[in-house]
Amino acid sequence: MGSSELLEILIQKSNQALAGGGEARMAKQHAAGKLCARERIDRLLDTGSFIEMDRFKTHRCVDFGMDAEKIPGDGVITGQGLINGRQVFVFAQDFTVFGGSLSLSHAEKICKVMDTAMKVGAPVIGLCDSGGARIQEGVMSLAGYADIFLRNVMASGVIPQITAIMGPSAGGAVYSPALTDWIFMVEKTGYMFITGPEVIKAVTRESVTKEDLGGAMAHNTVSGVAHFAEPDDAACLERIRELLSFLPRNNMEEAPRRPSSDDPERRDEALRDLVPADPNKPYDIRDLIRSNLDDGYFFEVQALYARNIVVGFGCLGGATVGIVANQPLAMAGCLDINASVKGARFVRFCDAFNIPLIVYEDVPGFLPGTHQEHGGIIKHGAKLIYAFCEATVPRITVITRKAYGGAYCVMNSRHIRGDLVLGFPTAEIAVMGAEGAVNIISREQIQGAADPEAERKRLVQEYRTKFANPYKAAELGYIDDVIDPADTRPHLIKALRMLSTKRDVNPPKKHGNIPL
Ligand code: HXC
Repeated sequence: MGSSELLEILIQKSNQALAGGGEARMAKQHAAGKLCARERIDRLLDTGSFIEMDRFKTHRCVDFGMDAEKIPGDGVITGQGLINGRQVFVFAQDFTVFGGSLSLSHAEKICKVMDTAMKVGAPVIGLCDSGGARIQEGVMSLAGYADIFLRNVMASGVIPQITAIMGPSAGGAVYSPALTDWIFMVEKTGYMFITGPEVIKAVTRESVTKEDLGGAMAHNTVSGVAHFAEPDDAACLERIRELLSFLPRNNMEEAPRRPSSDDPERRDEALRDLVPADPNKPYDIRDLIRSNLDDGYFFEVQALYARNIVVGFGCLGGATVGIVANQPLAMAGCLDINASVKGARFVRFCDAFNIPLIVYEDVPGFLPGTHQEHGGIIKHGAKLIYAFCEATVPRITVITRKAYGGAYCVMNSRHIRGDLVLGFPTAEIAVMGAEGAVNIISREQIQGAADPEAERKRLVQEYRTKFANPYKAAELGYIDDVIDPADTRPHLIKALRMLSTKRDVNPPKKHGNIPL
């Protein structure tokens, strides 16, 4: 055969791979408001940077007439490319080929990408759109899933792993996404559940729609499984690009620097009035976060879940930082089960990937109630303590107002290896709020007074003057300085520079035993 004929065969086979499940199925995909797998990859990566692997790989199933039905690529497109000039690995399931279902060959392609990403130390992004296990393959498909799970776990904390749910993800197939660091979901088209509405109906007689059960909103607001909800494929892929711009490629690298013309010495006098004089009045902690960050830009993560704690990324003096903040706007900033788990997972991600932590604290304590106690707040709150205690990245705390009780200890206090703690003049570091404290320790004195209410008020004021300020903690060295809120940004940037060569280690061990 001559070279031109050989080339013709290559072109023919390539065209076959590019055609996927054919025009009709692609049109159906578009009609459903979804992009096709290759279109998604093209949008995700820098133009023209995609290099495909295993384009010609097919399944090896011979049952149910499958030997006559082979499509090169076998329902998943894999390879590598660039995002903002930095290398990433990607796999995109192609719903037009056997419903994007996972055969053993399909799984092997994903595993190959993950293995290579681990060798070279680059993030893996999975774009999921799949009917689950390839039904015709049976147990071979299950083996493929297990092979992926193992790799997800081995890669955890080594390279960032990102998943986008852009179509169905059902049954055991949800567990690979759940093992990755970040889950994006596309509204209306992406859904995840272990058992679908029909099975639920049959077993529990409960009627629920696919969307309410496992759509983007269900997992972003109720279950906390997902971290981002995006209106369509294009927005989802753009957000993934943005998230990656804050992350190092692997755990041995520093997070990328993002140069900014924002003056590191920039002050903001409006911050002096941010925290209301009335300790029971809320304010939006994100105003402080944005004011401090370069160009006022805050990339919030999991914004729709456990709003009483705010987490996300930004830059200070060009350096990527992770932000963890109590949010007085929601539940007065109390820590509850959901906030503890959300905060703990974020802290652990930042620590695994060398991203310094900035913590803003205004927390009246853990949320009381039988629902919380019986739900295991003891165990879940302990996760947040555990995460902070073991973190060795630079860690700075700014106490804006309340730092009460156990929550004071938890929120990156010096006692658990916080590197620097700054207090606003409005900071109150105490065992509890003045009202609660006086009600407990002065009950008899109040009841015996001629005017109990006046006596109660006097004692509350006395307690407040004595303890509801930052100076008692400053006298003890528990906070390092009390600062003018207007100067928070310059203080944080200088502290980060001071800590940039920080080295800290944990005792050698196989692994700890975080209270799961
Ligand atoms: C093989 C599949 C398939 C599957 C879909 N297809 N799912 N082929 N194995 N799991 C094929 C269909 O036959 C069809 O082929 C094409 O993909 C598109 O499917 P449709 O049903 O036409 O699409 P739609 O109406 O959009 O419905 C999508 C769907 C539905 C909701 C995902 O296909 C479905 O319910 N699929 C089965 C889901 C399932 O039970 N999977 C196994 C879960 S158990 P043609 O040729 O007509 O285009 C599991 C265990 C994993 O995953 C355990 C891991 C530990």
